[in-house]
Amino acid sequence: MKALVTGATGFVGSYLTRELLRNDDEVAILTRPGSSLRRLADVQDRITIFDQGFQGPEVVDVIQSYRPDCCFHLAWSGVAGKDRNELFQIEDNLEPSLNLIRQCADAGCETFVGLGSQAEYGPINRKAKESDPVNPSTLYGKTKWAVSQLGQAEAESRGMRFVWGRLFSSYGPGDNSDWLIPYLMRSLLAGQRPSLTPCEQIWDFIHVADVATALRALAVEPSAQGTFNVGGGDARPLREIVEAIRDLIDPQLPLGIGDVGYRPDQVMHLEADIERITTTTGWCPQVDLKTGLAGCLEELKDHEKTLPAMR
Ligand SMILES: NC(=O)c1ccc[n+]([C@@H]2O[C@H](COP(=O)([O-])OP(=O)(O)OC[C@H]3O[C@@H](n4cnc5c(N)ncnc54)[C@H](OP(=O)(O)O)[C@@H]3O)[C@@H](O)[C@H]2O)c1
Repeated sequence: MKALVTGATGFVGSYLTRELLRNDDEVAILTRPGSSLRRLADVQDRITIFDQGFQGPEVVDVIQSYRPDCCFHLAWSGVAGKDRNELFQIEDNLEPSLNLIRQCADAGCETFVGLGSQAEYGPINRKAKESDPVNPSTLYGKTKWAVSQLGQAEAESRGMRFVWGRLFSSYGPGDNSDWLIPYLMRSLLAGQRPSLTPCEQIWDFIHVADVATALRALAVEPSAQGTFNVGGGDARPLREIVEAIRDLIDPQLPLGIGDVGYRPDQVMHLEADIERITTTTGWCPQVDLKTGLAGCLEELKDHEKTLPAMR
């Protein structure tokens, strides 16, 4: 497969890029000027790099010259929690993503795989199926959902297969340091008591290596079309996950469970029903939580000194 990947310099995109290379796919990535290639340093010489970003008119030239079989669109402006209700969610992502879809289709690309989010469901508070109604409560979730709906219409009208991976919480070595698992590990390793909510939420974590295999499985299965949950399928109360992390480091360490309250819009149960992706593609998650967390801890210990200071 000749693949074009946006967001390849990010956490998930770097794993996907490696997964494609592992399968001998030809890979080009669309970065923006100034994107750091640190997550791809060891495979950089095996990929073609275009640094026009996905938002400008120049994207046409890249797509017309490279002519991918499949575009994986992972780039997104405003993934961090603090940006979830910023207006740039719409401005920077909606039209540029639709334009990318149109340009890919017009260049003869057969398949477009976009990456959505559990945030599209909003406060669903149960195990979610793709056919469930969505009610996103943030601009991030609303914009993701809009791209999935309008993108599908654009792709279908141009004869390009459109797949939307609705991703739940991913984790793994190299994750962005503000998310819960790296925050918790770094706090505990530094001997600090982490400040946590009561941790009663039921949460679905998926290892990032499994996300990468899921996205490729969706791309290579010709019957895969439309939205697919991409989750671990092993949701648990957050308290269990937090305690498992603490126990990996030192069971005696104190946890600040309940030190902070829930957010007003806190979703208490986010769990992916993964039947659609497993039956359509045969994919299933391979990394169990215990093994995945141990890998994160190992990587964090190795790279602790090079990480930015904790906020
Ligand atoms: N991680 C999760 O648990 C999770 C859950 C659900 C959905 N997702 C989705 O998965 C995708 C990847 O997430 P991630 O966790 O890997 O995030 P990330 O590490 O922050 O990566 C984001 C990627 O998007 C690129 N990007 C951001 N703004 C851009 C812009 N204006 N122009 C061009 N590229 C831009 C970044 O490039 P730079 O390197 O230049 O910054 C980076 O490659 C996103 O679409 C996100 O919404 C992630």
